[in-house]
Formats: sequence, structure tokens, C-alpha cells
Amino acid sequence: MNDDLTVLGIESSCDDTAAAVLRGREILSSVVMGQAELHAAFGGVVPEIAARAHAEKLDHAVEAALAQAGVELRALDAIAVTAGPGLIGGVLSGVMCAKGLAAATGKPLIGVNHLAGHALTPRLTDGLGFPYLMLLVSGGHCQFLVVRGPEEFTRLGGTIDDAPGEAFDKVAKLLGLAQPGGPVVEAEARRGDPKRFALPRPLLDRPGCDMSFSGLKTAVLRARDALVTEKGGITAQDRADICASFQAAVADVLAEKTRRALALAPGMGALAVAGGVAANGTIRAALETVAAQDRATFVAPPLKLCTDNAAMIAWAGAELFAGGQRDGMDLAARPRWPLDQTSTPMLGGGKRGAKA
Ligand code: KG4
Ligand code: ZN
Repeated sequence: MNDDLTVLGIESSCDDTAAAVLRGREILSSVVMGQAELHAAFGGVVPEIAARAHAEKLDHAVEAALAQAGVELRALDAIAVTAGPGLIGGVLSGVMCAKGLAAATGKPLIGVNHLAGHALTPRLTDGLGFPYLMLLVSGGHCQFLVVRGPEEFTRLGGTIDDAPGEAFDKVAKLLGLAQPGGPVVEAEARRGDPKRFALPRPLLDRPGCDMSFSGLKTAVLRARDALVTEKGGITAQDRADICASFQAAVADVLAEKTRRALALAPGMGALAVAGGVAANGTIRAALETVAAQDRATFVAPPLKLCTDNAAMIAWAGAELFAGGQRDGMDLAARPRWPLDQTSTPMLGGGKRGAKA
């Protein structure tokens, strides 16, 4: 189908300015220019700073992606760009950049949903066929999607408050550890006792596959404060034990809810994960076990394609292009753009983090 399409992808919905060139399923180049240092002093992504940085870096990212791929603009079949959801200033920068390129070259323009980019990545990396169950777990998102086609997504459930990555980041902060919290908490957890603190497994008592992680973070805060009251502070071992107990709780919740999602959508041949949290060894192992019990193949794309990148946007663009999508100069940048337009809005909105 899209085996020999050459597509430029552009991504700028959060704090990574990215451009990539794909030919079929081959990634000819994938450039990701992060902005971590620009936002570090503010403890989170500042939308105005992000938008300005995207506007400054996009041309360079595109130039570098084309040069690394050895592809000229005129050799492209299409230009795909994230048109939402995300921080509107950044999304607008990307959409304007793509429109400029499309207008100058006469190449087709394809607007892509950022979440569809994540959700379709296992097709790029592993050639996965439809349908499959996708668990998207990042710093800003947590949801189960049945993926039936490039534009056919059914949302089975997701977090009603924090995303797991956000919880990892907040727990790290509570314990005086560095950001992003995920990898640091995981490293601490390796030396810790996951059974020492009996932390809650929120919403396991309720049917369905909605999740909640904000209470878990509060429970960690209470455990820390109880130790401080009792002993005047926490030791390195206390910290490692808290991290291990917290990680075990997140892994348990994700595993059990995945089991339920697979039961709700029988016949899924594969369980795929994406998002930064999928890098966590304990969580990955728990999900792999659940998939094996359900006789589903477990697919976890390489980390650099699990986190924000433009190769996934180029791929989703290629799928949409093959399906006939062409966007015009009226392509809009959308701050909100749920993948499953039919599912009822969640309690609390479900997305509090900056990233998707
Ligand atoms: O997908 P991602 O790079 O960005 C978006 O959120 O889109 O995910 C980043 C999140 C951060 O919250 C980070 O703490 C978390 O993924 N993360 C991890 C690990 N590595 C990154 N969480 C748990 N364990 C990890 N090893
Ligand atoms: Zn993302």
C-alpha cells in the first residue's frame, strides 16, 4: 500500500521539535530537537517558550531531516504534520511550516492526530495488522484503544486524573529525585522492597478499564511524611522502598486493567504499548505476562519511537495518504482532538500533563 511512499513528517505539539523522512517503512531520518534546558527552570513546559522555540527550530529540523535522508523536497510524495492535540502555539508553528512547504512545492498536505501517530507506530516498527489493542502510557496520556484502521479507534478507558508518567514525575519530586522521574524512580526501585509500603491499587474495585493515579501519589506523600514524623527524615533505603512499592502499584494497576481491556475486546491478536512509561522494565514485564496469558503478541516499539518523534507522524500521514486524505490550506491546528469521537468525555478530562 504505502510501501514506497516518501513522506516528510513534522511534529511540534509539545516540547520536541521533530522532523523525519520515511520511505515505506524505512526511516531515512528522524531528527528530534528537545527543549528540556529551556523549560528546566520552570518545573514544566512553558507554552509560550515552547512555541517560540518551535518557530525557531522547525526549519532547521526539516532541513536536517531531508539532508540526513538524502532526499530533496521535490522527491516527497506528501508532507504530514501534527495538527493536534497539543499546545496550540507549537501545533500552529508546525502546521504553518508544513503549509509553507506544501504551497511552495505543490506537494499534498496531510494533517495528523498526534495520538494516532503513537497508536499506529507498531505498524511502522513491527508491521502489525489491524485490529490490535494499544495501551498509550506517557507523561500526559493513559488510555486503552482498539485500533481497527488508521482512523478507526475505540477508546475502552483511561485515566480519570493523572497519567502514570506524571505520577512517576511527582513521586520523584516528593522524594527529592531528579526529573524526568520515571527512569530515576525505576533505578531506585531496583534496590527497594516493593512490599514494604502497602500502597493502594486505585479503581481495581470498579469494573471497566478506567484508571486513577493521583491518589497513589498522595499515598506516597503520606508514607513519606509518616516516616519524617516518626524518624525525623527518610533514609536512602526508605526512599528505595517507597519507589519500589509505588512502581509495583502502578504495574499492578496497568496489568489488571490491561487484562480487562483484552477481555472487553476479544480477538485482539496483539497488545501494543507506546509512551515513555513503556520503557519501565517492571511495567513492561507485567504487561508482557498479561499478553502471554491472553495468547496475544506483545509489541513494544523501540523507545525512541515510543516517545515523541516525527517518524510516527510521517507514518500515520502515509497511511492517511494511502486512504485518500488530502488537506487544504484551511487545515486547522486543534488543541483538543480526541481519537475516539464517540466515547463519552472522561471525568476530570484525563489529561493534565503537558505531553501527549
Ligand atoms: O512519551 P514521553 O517521552 O512524553 C510524553 O509524555 O509524551 O513520556 C515521558 C514520561 C515522563 O513522565 C517520564 O517520567 C516517563 O515517561 N518515563 C518513565 C520511564 N522513562 C520515562 N516512567 C517510568 N519508568 C521509566 N523507565
Ligand atoms: Zn506524544
